[in-house]
Amino acid sequence: MKIGIICVSDRCFNGVCDDKSGPAIEECVKPLCDESVYRLVPDVKFKISKAICELADDEKCDVIFTTGGTGFAPRDVTPEATEAVIEKKVPGISEAIRAKSLEITERAMLSRAVSGIRGGTLIINLPGSPKAVRESIAVVINVLPHAVETLSGNTQSCGGNYGK
Ligand code: MTE
Repeated sequence: MKIGIICVSDRCFNGVCDDKSGPAIEECVKPLCDESVYRLVPDVKFKISKAICELADDEKCDVIFTTGGTGFAPRDVTPEATEAVIEKKVPGISEAIRAKSLEITERAMLSRAVSGIRGGTLIINLPGSPKAVRESIAVVINVLPHAVETLSGNTQSCGGNYGK
């Protein structure tokens, strides 16, 4: 699986701090990941959208995780930047992440993260902290192989009478 990682952070982009969440994503997906591609962008809508498009269309990532910019801060625009470039919404993934995360912290309801599909790529927004990244990826990691398989058109392992 080829994984795209996009860190969305003004502070990291401006060198004020190091990105710890991108490496946390990399570590969490290691069991599934053959190759990863990384981008660091500021909290600017068109730059986030552009990075998503590049990793989906040019790099052909199977899954892209963004981290950061999903909250209420004035410059948080990652969900809007994602919605601008996805072709299909996948609400269930973000709903599942929020529901499981609420068992850990009630602040999980403050993430406006979305998920969706662009071409053959699944895009999943994650909150910005390494803790939130680890907790969120734990919710979805087991379904990713099946998600990527069906996205590529192989529905044989869905268990239903698909295509009949
Ligand atoms: N989800 C999980 N699993 N664990 C967390 O610690 N933090 C929350 C929420 N989601 C958190 C979480 C907090 S405090 C915020 S403000 C929102 O994610 C948005 O985070 P972001 O603005 O860094 O994207």
